[in-house]
Amino acid sequence: MSLFITFEGPDGCGKTTQARLLAEHLRARGYAVVLTREPGGTTIGEQVREVILSTRNRTMRNETEVLLFSAARAQIVAEVIRPALAAGKIVVCDRYADSTLAYQGYGLGLDLDALRAITRFATGGLAPDLTFFVDVPVEVGLARRQRGETNRLDQKDIEYHTRVRNGYWELVRAEPQRFVVIDGTRAIDAIQNDIRAHIERALHAQPVDAAHKPTYNLDTEEGRCKMKLVFAIVHNDDASKLTAALREKGHHFTLISTTGGFLREGNSTILIGVEEEKLEDVLHIVKANCITRTRYVNPMPPVMEPGELYLAQPVEVQVGGATVFVMDVERFEKF
Ligand SMILES: Nc1ncnc2c1ncn2[C@@H]1O[C@H](COP(=O)(O)OP(=O)(O)O)[C@@H](O)[C@H]1O
Ligand SMILES: [Mg+2]
Repeated sequence: MSLFITFEGPDGCGKTTQARLLAEHLRARGYAVVLTREPGGTTIGEQVREVILSTRNRTMRNETEVLLFSAARAQIVAEVIRPALAAGKIVVCDRYADSTLAYQGYGLGLDLDALRAITRFATGGLAPDLTFFVDVPVEVGLARRQRGETNRLDQKDIEYHTRVRNGYWELVRAEPQRFVVIDGTRAIDAIQNDIRAHIERALHAQPVDAAHKPTYNLDTEEGRCKMKLVFAIVHNDDASKLTAALREKGHHFTLISTTGGFLREGNSTILIGVEEEKLEDVLHIVKANCITRTRYVNPMPPVMEPGELYLAQPVEVQVGGATVFVMDVERFEKF
C-alpha cells in the first residue's frame, strides 16, 4: 500500500511542523515513510533551491522561477517520490505542485493553463492522493514567519499573500475530494490530531490492488467460519465503557457514532464480529455495561423500495440498556 500526501499553505502556517509530526507518527505505527520537501529533497533539487532563494538573484524572472521549481520537482518525482510509492511507502511532501498554481498562478498572475502543462511535464502527471491545506489568515502566517514584525511589510505583500490564500481556496473547490482544509490557527497538537484522523481514513479507504485481491472459495466448507454480527445500539454514555470491556476480552468491533438518520442522535452503534461460541460472552458484556438508557429506542423502519433488501432476518433481543440485533454471517478465509 502506498500513499502520497502533500502539505500546502502559506509560509508560517505550520506545514513543516505538521509534516514532521505526521511522519513520526506513521513511522511509530510501523509504516515506511519518506518525508521530503520542495524545492529540494535531491542533490540537484537542493542546488536549484539555492538558486531560487539566493539574494544574489534578485533579477530572476517569474517564468524563470517557475521553471526552476519545476526542474527541482521533476527530479524529486523521478528520484524520490515514484520509487518510494512503487516500493509501497508513504510519501509526505512539504509543498508540491499546488504551490506553483497558488503562488506563481494566483499570486503573480501567470497563466494557470501554462503552469498546469509545465507541471504535468515535470511530474509525468503524478498527483497526490491527499493534500492538507493548512489555512491561516495572511497576517498569522506572516507574523509567525517574521516573528511579529508584520509592520515591516507593505500593503503589496499583504495583497499578494491574500491572492495566494484565495488561490488555494480555488484549488480546494476544484478538487474537494483530494484536499483536506485544516484550520492552522489552533494549537499544534489539535491540528496534528485532526490530520491523523484524516490519514487513518485514507489508509483504510485504499482500494484493493487487483494483484493482491483475495479470492474466496464459496463452494467448499474449507476456510469457512460461522460467525455472528452483533449490532448493539447503545447510549453514548455507555459506549466507551462497552468498547473498553470488549477490547479487554479480545473481541473485534467497530464503533459508529450515530448522528441521526433512522437511529436516534446520542446513541452509538457498535458492530461486533464474533465466532458463534463466543456470542454469549459478548451479549453478557453488553448487558453488564449498558445501563444508562431507560427508554427502549427502536430503529425506525428504513425507507424501502420494492425489491430492496434490508438487514436480512435480524433477531432482536433486548440486552440491558441496549438494543441488539444479531445476524448470521460467515467468514471466508482467502486462499
Ligand atoms: N499551530 C501553531 N501555533 C503556533 N505556532 C506555530 C504553529 N505551527 C507552527 N508554528 C510555529 O510557526 C513557525 C512556522 O512553522 P512551520 O512549521 O515552519 O511553517 P511552514 O513550514 O508552513 O512555513 C515555527 O516557528 C513554528 O514553531
Ligand atoms: Mg516550512
